[in-house]
Amino acid sequence: MGDRLAAALLHHRRRAGLTQEALSERSGVSVRTIRAIESGNRPNPQLASVRQLVTALDLPPHTQSELLAAATGAPEQVSPVPRQLPPDVVGFVGRADELGRLDAMLDSVDREQSAVVISAVAGTAGVGKTTLALHWAHRTADRFPDGQLYVNLRGFDARGAMVEAAEAVRGFLDALGVPPRRVPVGIDAQVGLYRSLVADRHMLVMLDNARDADQVRPLLPGTAGCVVVVTSRNHLASLVATHNAHLLPLDLLTVADAELLLARRLGRGRWRRSPAR
Ligand SMILES: Nc1ncnc2c1ncn2[C@@H]1O[C@H](COP(=O)(O)OP(=O)(O)OP(=O)(O)O)[C@@H](O)[C@H]1O
Ligand SMILES: [Mg+2]
Repeated sequence: MGDRLAAALLHHRRRAGLTQEALSERSGVSVRTIRAIESGNRPNPQLASVRQLVTALDLPPHTQSELLAAATGAPEQVSPVPRQLPPDVVGFVGRADELGRLDAMLDSVDREQSAVVISAVAGTAGVGKTTLALHWAHRTADRFPDGQLYVNLRGFDARGAMVEAAEAVRGFLDALGVPPRRVPVGIDAQVGLYRSLVADRHMLVMLDNARDADQVRPLLPGTAGCVVVVTSRNHLASLVATHNAHLLPLDLLTVADAELLLARRLGRGRWRRSPAR
């Protein structure tokens, strides 16, 4: 138990760029105590001291709970790893260039450490935006050890059933293991909690079928580490301007790919016998 706390405190103090002395000054906990905890010589420190340290390190809520659990010897919290992606499309065809561009966007994550990296897949109705984004998300699942969040925002639903950002955030909180009684009242607090929970994680967030940038904005994580893929019939130009989103305009499948898709869907024999050929 002491080892777990020791390792966690050392990790988070160094990550915050603080010496033991600086953390002591900031938290009011003596250097001796910090040193003892970090060396594993104080397996049962006073919980109040750990709270002071956690506050001084300004850690997101789930990391705070992990440290406090380590200090009390509570079993390690298994926070759920959400896997919300709908299934990949069977018989995906083409889009090699676009998949390559999405991969390149992912590689830029390491370079753009200070920003949430967003890719906005835009194009006309039914052109294959959702299918492309989903296929790519499945292909790259192993790059996101903390899982994937997905919401269909229904921005262009013919029945007008657009999903409000507040509803989407509550869905994400649920997927992140927040019990309903702990969901704060009010959209701002809910968004704040959502952003704190994803702050330390490497997750893919897929915001599918968005109407516009306003619907998307509250669902964007606040810090780097997460990658967001938005699909929309609109070009989401303001997201490009405000969040430096990488825009990926999607055109129709090439004729060869469309034929391949039809052949797969209809069965190769039927497609060949078609009078249109
Ligand atoms: N690359 C592809 N390979 C195989 N099937 C595809 C591909 N692209 C699109 N499809 C098929 O085309 C249909 C429409 O695609 P999709 O739902 O992705 O379009 P969309 O651009 O997201 O549409 P909307 O604007 O309504 O959101 C789906 O049934 C999907 O299976
Ligand atoms: Mg779609």
